Amino acid sequence: MATPLVAGNWKMNTTPREAPALAASMRDGLAAISGVTKVICPPFVSLGAVAIALDRTDVEIGAQDGHAEESGAYTGEVSMSMLSSLCQFVIVGHSERRSLFSETDADVAAKTLSAIAHGLRPIVCVGEALDVRDAGNALEYVSDQLKASLEGVTDPAGLVVGYEPVWAIGTGRSARPDVAGEMAESLRETLASLFGDEPASDIPILYGGSVTSENIGPFIDRPHIDGALVGGASLKPDEFVGIVELTASIRA
Ligand code: PGA
Repeated sequence: MATPLVAGNWKMNTTPREAPALAASMRDGLAAISGVTKVICPPFVSLGAVAIALDRTDVEIGAQDGHAEESGAYTGEVSMSMLSSLCQFVIVGHSERRSLFSETDADVAAKTLSAIAHGLRPIVCVGEALDVRDAGNALEYVSDQLKASLEGVTDPAGLVVGYEPVWAIGTGRSARPDVAGEMAESLRETLASLFGDEPASDIPILYGGSVTSENIGPFIDRPHIDGALVGGASLKPDEFVGIVELTASIRA
């Protein structure tokens, strides 16, 4: 069974001065919780400072993206090999990257492979837009998206999957836990078809989309949901610590 995991995605929020202060304000609360992998994903420019603020705790650090190429003429980009000395995780294929920066499944797969090659744990995000959900095709669509985003991956050790329905991100309108649970079960089957039952059962599948300390419980209660990818609420220390605490107590 997968170890539960909660990741906070700070997105493009916090200055380099604010980020370590925010991390420090969560430090003791997060450090006191065991049984859950805890990950904070600040902006690139604050990865080092947040790592220092969380030094000597078991809280891990993640980047929000990374480029698939090793190095070269890619102005403004940061490679997975550069990230590997700063953090342990990297989010790839977040729906904001897919929709605002035109990332394709092939781009996401290349990033995932590069992350794995550099010893980073990729949090591979998938999720359907509202029109796909309304048309009744969500399960098949997201399963295909996951397969394409993992193209070429042969060893899933360290892999994390984030299911984030696009219509639930930042809207205050989370998915119903039974709907997210059904998707997580379908994604588990997809992972089993790619990697086998045993390896698939060890891959944490996260739900993301308007998660709060108020609504997290019923998601974690679902058999195939192993944690959460948290956006807005991860910027509020009490909220984020509360989400991790609830996850730990439900999965204990
Ligand atoms: P949200 O964002 O929790 O603010 O909806 C989730 C995400 O985009 O990872």
